[in-house]
This record gives sequence, C-alpha cells and structure tokens, in this order.
Amino acid sequence: NIVKLILGIESSCDETGIALYHTERGLLAHTLHSQIALHNEYGGVVPELASRDHVRHALPLIRSALQKAGCALSDIDAIAYTQGPGLSGALLVGSSIACALAYTLDVPTIGVHHLEGHLLSPLLSRPAPEFPFVALLVSGGHTQLMRVDGVGHYTLLGESVDDAAGEAFDKSAKLLGLDYPGGALLSKLAQRGTPGRFKLPRPMLHSGNLDFSFSGLKTAVLTLVNQQIDIPHPNPDGTTSHSTKPASGQVAGYLPEGEGANESLREFPTPEQTRADIAHAAQEAIVDVLVNKALAALKQTGLNQLVVAGGVGANQLLRSRLNASVGKHDGNVFYPELEFCTDNGAMIAFAGAMRLQQQVAQRDYRFNVKPRWD
Ligand code: KG4
Ligand code: ZN
Repeated sequence: NIVKLILGIESSCDETGIALYHTERGLLAHTLHSQIALHNEYGGVVPELASRDHVRHALPLIRSALQKAGCALSDIDAIAYTQGPGLSGALLVGSSIACALAYTLDVPTIGVHHLEGHLLSPLLSRPAPEFPFVALLVSGGHTQLMRVDGVGHYTLLGESVDDAAGEAFDKSAKLLGLDYPGGALLSKLAQRGTPGRFKLPRPMLHSGNLDFSFSGLKTAVLTLVNQQIDIPHPNPDGTTSHSTKPASGQVAGYLPEGEGANESLREFPTPEQTRADIAHAAQEAIVDVLVNKALAALKQTGLNQLVVAGGVGANQLLRSRLNASVGKHDGNVFYPELEFCTDNGAMIAFAGAMRLQQQVAQRDYRFNVKPRWD
C-alpha cells in the first residue's frame, strides 16, 4: 500500500480542522480554527457564515499544517474529507478543496463519515482500545451506543429518539443564559451548584433498551427556570436585573446544615446560586442516563472496553462517573485526547487512513457531499 501521508479536512459545522496523518509515523500535525466567536451573537451556528469562514481559513490552515509537519504539498498521498453528515454549504467547502487539491496532485480522495471520525478518534491515543469494543458517541448532533468489531463493522445498539446529549446540554445552557455552545459552560456553572436541591427527570432510564430521550429535559429545565428565577429585565442604566421568586416548591432552609453553609443563602438563594443549582441538576440527569445506558450496553454485549467519543466526551463529570462504574466491573474506558473530542481534522485524516487500508482508493473528484447520512 503506497498511501502513507493523508491530509484530513473537516468542515462539517463550525470548526475548520486540518491534519496530516502518516500510516507509519502517526499524526504529524494538525491545525484548527473554531468559529464559536463568529456565531456567538446569533445563539447558534449560521450556516452561510460558517461556509464563508471555512473558505477563509482552510487553505492557510493546510499551509501551516504542512509547515508544522515539515512536509510539502507533493508529499501527500491521499486526501480525506468529511463528506457528511453536516451543513451542506460547509461540507461543500471541504469537499471542493479536497477534490481540487487531489486533482492537481493526482492523488485519490476519500469521503469520511463525520461520526466514524469521532468513533475512531480514541484510537489516536495510547493505550488504544482493541476491537471489539462498545462506543458511546455523544456529540452535539448524535447520541449513540455502538458495538464496534473493526473499522467499518458497526452495530447500532441504541440511540436518542429525540435530542442529542450535547443538544440537551446546549439547550439547558441557553435557558440559563449561557452562550452557545453551552455544554462546557454549563458544566463549569454546575460546579458551584448545590447537590440535591433540584432533581430533574431521567427519561427512558428504565426503558429496558439502549435508547435515550433528552427532549423532556429542556422542558423540565424551562419549568424550573420559570418557577425559580425571574425573567431577566433590563434596567434603564443598561444593566440587567434578575430576582429569585419565593416560588412554590422552594423551601427556605433547603441547604444542608453544617459548617460553611452560608446563612443568607439558606433563606434566599441568589438567582446566580439558583442558576448553578439548576445547571448541577441538569448535568447530573444527563450524565446519570449516559452512564447507566453505557453500563447496560457493556452488560448486553459481554464486552469490557468502552470508548467514549464526541464533544460531550470532554465532560469531566461523565469521565469520572464512567471510570468509576466501568472500573467496578473490571472494564476500561478510553477517551480521545481532549482536543480531539470536539470536531477536528485529525480524526478525519485517521479514519480516512483506516478506510484506505481496506478499500481501493478512488480518483473521483466530484463534489459529493451527504448532509444527511445515516
Ligand atoms: O462533537 P462535537 O464537537 O460536534 C458535533 O459533531 O456535534 O460536539 C459538540 C457538543 C456541543 O453540544 C457542546 O456543548 C458539547 O459537545 N460539549 C460539552 C462539553 N464540551 C463540549 N458538553 C458537556 N460538557 C463539556 N465539557
Ligand atoms: Zn462532531
């Protein structure tokens, strides 16, 4: 197999990710530009802005990845790009750059499924898991449990019937007034939360299968926010005020007695404290369901290796709970490096390299994207 150096291009959503992966020397370099700041003021990703920003950043990022790796364009043996699923315009930028470059270099291209990239990303770390394993894929768009017997051999064990886990984090975060994407911010806010003050539902926890449901959570969070926190109101001086409602369901003296318990908080938690408490409850609910279903998947398959991939895999509470409970069953949990949890080019270059070891490379330079791809 003469394909050794693979250029990977990720552009499915709001991150432009580039990487150079060598089949013998491993990951040589990767570069990334995140558009989070660009979309921030809109509270979500604006597809057209995303496409234009990929156009701006892709080539400079390719140049700097080559420089970091000490390689020339002409060293590239194949180009892997995210073919889907994702935003069609954003995907087309990566695909057209990949195909145009590959055409001029006379090298093959390979379209990679974005989720396969996430799924295989823990294999970039050491120690790497060995096949077969169970994968928990938790991103902004997907929540799936899969049995993985090898590259391309995936059996879906269960998935979310509605919102993804990342979406549940993001929507709860938004209701608590945090910026988009709010997963990591909610997790940070939750650290200051009072354990046990609020308990949110864990839908489908005992459904008897490996499916998830998270859409009810945002409704429950919304109800709590409306019950416990006044809607923010702007003051004439441009600042914003909130106030905690002495609402039904809120009991004075709810905080555990004991040392360090703040006297004023015990009577009237500040809105800020209430927000942290709701964040705490939301994170607990999401993590609890993910951990329980992942354990059930290990039990059902009889496997003892769990691989966690996707942006929510960066969540520290999820990591510590999974480590503890899988460890108790003599299992091991594998995670991608934190920087490869969220979208990146390394996972696309790597998945492309794995695929190229299995299939004959194509010189197909049609801009072929699959915004929806099972
Ligand atoms: O995999 P990813 O980068 O993009 C998709 O392919 O969807 O995942 C992004 C998701 C977002 O929903 C984001 O809020 C969530 O991952 N996320 C987190 C954390 N870091 C990222 N959720 C919870 N805790 C985190 N630390
Ligand atoms: Zn992703």
